[in-house]
Amino acid sequence: MARFIVILSLLSGAFAHEHHGTTLFPRAEQIAAPKFGYHGLTGPLNWFNLNQTTNELCAKGTHQSPIDLSQSFLMTSASANPQFALSAAPRGADFINLGTTVEVMGANGTLVTKNKTSKLAQFHFHSPSEHSINGVFYPMEVHFVFQAPDASLSVVGFVIDIGGSNFEPLGTLATSLKDIPRHGNETTTKPLTFDRLERHFKQYGTYQYSGSLTTPPCSEGVSWTVSTKPLQVDFKAFNAFKEVLKFNARYTQNTPDDVNLLQNIANTLH
Ligand SMILES: *[C@@H]1O[C@H](CO)[C@@H](O)[C@H](O)[C@H]1NC(C)=O
Ligand SMILES: *[C@@H]1O[C@H](CO)[C@@H](O)[C@H](O)[C@H]1NC(C)=O
Ligand SMILES: *[C@@H]1O[C@H](CO)[C@@H](O)[C@H](O)[C@H]1NC(C)=O
Ligand SMILES: *[C@@H]1O[C@H](CO)[C@@H](O)[C@H](O)[C@H]1NC(C)=O
Ligand SMILES: [Zn+2]
Repeated sequence: MARFIVILSLLSGAFAHEHHGTTLFPRAEQIAAPKFGYHGLTGPLNWFNLNQTTNELCAKGTHQSPIDLSQSFLMTSASANPQFALSAAPRGADFINLGTTVEVMGANGTLVTKNKTSKLAQFHFHSPSEHSINGVFYPMEVHFVFQAPDASLSVVGFVIDIGGSNFEPLGTLATSLKDIPRHGNETTTKPLTFDRLERHFKQYGTYQYSGSLTTPPCSEGVSWTVSTKPLQVDFKAFNAFKEVLKFNARYTQNTPDDVNLLQNIANTLH
């Protein structure tokens, strides 16, 4: 099992980390997929050209993520929040460097909405934040990726600010980053707890919208819930994350339902 995860993680490091560990795409496709990144011709402006078949939505989709989270996506009452429940991991969990992010696998959790119950597949990090909140970006963002029995994906996101004391498990994870500096590196974390994170999520309102994976193939129908209130890490933890993540945020997409920004350019360049 451990061996299987290592192999899978190495192969899919070249692929979308957003749905890594889910059943959305068969393994063979992951092997064939070209490498994506965040700069130059492997960067977000050119993801469509890396594979025009699989990545069509990156340039043509009209419900793409991330977006600026303005008041129109706000659920002011915390009672509109889905139930976000993560189990402590007293023996730690797998922590891997996918080249495009660092990701925790093997932790257990559920997301319960009115319609369905989804299971935690993995969670991973971006720097800087991918979503902005009323125009404001943050130093980091974490994405908890859940999959339902019908294979649909839901992501719970938190933007992360610098200051105060570390929200667990962020501080604990930061201490393991020195063990996974490069693509393909894997380690086991120290024990992880999620109580403070769960309480934080329950306490505040959320932004909710239907969007996409923020990495190729930019698949749509992803149900996003982002807490209105940032988590916190201290400077030391932030620097440890920044050192490994470097820059891994997709640019802000157009308002849902409106034309894809790349499609708009293609329509006007002659
Ligand atoms: C695009 O992806 C599909 C499906 O994985 C694959 O069959 C095809 O060869 C890829 N095309 C290119 C140009 O890489
Ligand atoms: C998640 O649950 C499975 C099945 O109960 C268990 O084997 C595994 O150790 C749990 N993961 C963690 C990180 O505790
Ligand atoms: C949940 O179910 C209700 C009623 O069946 C439906 O109107 C709504 O669109 C569903 N919501 C989601 C997110 O699937
Ligand atoms: C990380 O991976 C590199 C190869 O990419 C390897 O040389 C190095 O030993 C690994 N480091 C750790 C801490 O596993
Ligand atoms: Zn993500």
